[in-house]
Amino acid sequence: MFNWDDYNKEEKAEQKQAPKAPPKQPEAKAEAPKPAVEPQQAVEPQATSEEYIEPEALDNVAKAQASLENLDVAPGLEELEMGAARIEVDDKKMINCRADLNQLVPFKYDWAWQKYLDGCSNHWMPQEINMTKDVATWKDPNGLTDDERKIVMRSLGYFSTADSLVANNLVLAIYRLITNPECRQYILRQAFEEAIHTHAYQYCVESLGMDEAEVFNMYREVPSIAKKAAWSIKHTQGISNPAFTTGTPESDQELLRNLIGFYCVTEGIFFYCGFTQILSMGRRNKMTGVAEQFQYILRDESMHLNFGVDIINQIKMENPHLWTEEFQQEVIQMILEGTQLEIEYARDTMPRGVLGMNANMMEEYLQFICNRRLAQLGLPAQFKNVSNPFPWMSEIMDLKKEKNFFETRVIEYQTGGALSWD
Ligand SMILES: [Fe+2]
Ligand SMILES: [Fe+2]
Repeated sequence: MFNWDDYNKEEKAEQKQAPKAPPKQPEAKAEAPKPAVEPQQAVEPQATSEEYIEPEALDNVAKAQASLENLDVAPGLEELEMGAARIEVDDKKMINCRADLNQLVPFKYDWAWQKYLDGCSNHWMPQEINMTKDVATWKDPNGLTDDERKIVMRSLGYFSTADSLVANNLVLAIYRLITNPECRQYILRQAFEEAIHTHAYQYCVESLGMDEAEVFNMYREVPSIAKKAAWSIKHTQGISNPAFTTGTPESDQELLRNLIGFYCVTEGIFFYCGFTQILSMGRRNKMTGVAEQFQYILRDESMHLNFGVDIINQIKMENPHLWTEEFQQEVIQMILEGTQLEIEYARDTMPRGVLGMNANMMEEYLQFICNRRLAQLGLPAQFKNVSNPFPWMSEIMDLKKEKNFFETRVIEYQTGGALSWD
């Protein structure tokens, strides 16, 4: 482990191996520190860096200076219409904005900034959650039924790679196309949360001693998981091409397809069967550590979903020509496809009743979720007379971190003061 004593030892060792002085070595300055060495050893004087400059080094300094003289003072990576003029609120646009994107303020989309602040105040880390009881349950042959084990395995199998797909789509595709700094600020926060989620799944897999290769390859090897992953990947391909740009009705609609495919379907539908199953397990006092990890992830995800819905609706509002009747039909179709894939996943993971639920109840829940996602986008419900069979899910989503739902121990995250300079 690193400590300051080792650091001092290294420093002393370096001093012993001080570079050989050049032939015309001036006298060492009186205040130069004396290295700690054995008396019989010749001590090379410490010289200032100026005295060590070789002709090549002078060339390097001159090159650096020349390079700085030719520095282009353009304000950023984007092509700007207004140069680096001071930004007015009205200059800001969600997509295809050509004003300086490095000026975070003045805010136009306060909701995006507020979500960034809320995301930061919800910060958590997977290691804060005590997994001891889960390890004992998982290793006890009678700790869980085969059906319950399958749910844990499948959930970790789907989510361990799904959050990477979401993160990659955010940073490699969406980020550069959303041309608003306060939204980008939230996207950066969200991207870090996705990293924490992938970390949480890895932490569960490692704590429980699962076969890592089996879990992390389920998105390629288990059909009900592979189909969901393939659907998400299909919706990132168009805009993740580095040559893709927005600016035409077709390309702007392609970005909307991606936002709907990721925020409303992947994060807004594909996560819900697994979340409900694991949280139901936690409510029955089983695998409470895993359940608590999922509880925090669900809270983050519900904010990601709300942010995505706000972005999509804002783009609609600013670009009403994109939201054609035909495009609305396409969006309804996408949400229905996602719902169908999630129902298939529910049937695969729950061949019979388990944890007080079954595939038919999950189907109704997913139809309820589907109607809700459509309503959030201003589109008509597609399933009549469906209600929420799991009202406790909304209750869990709204929980504050201080309320410890599954009664595992949580250490409050320390946002400062951990380091002392004394
Ligand atoms: Fe996530
Ligand atoms: Fe997410």
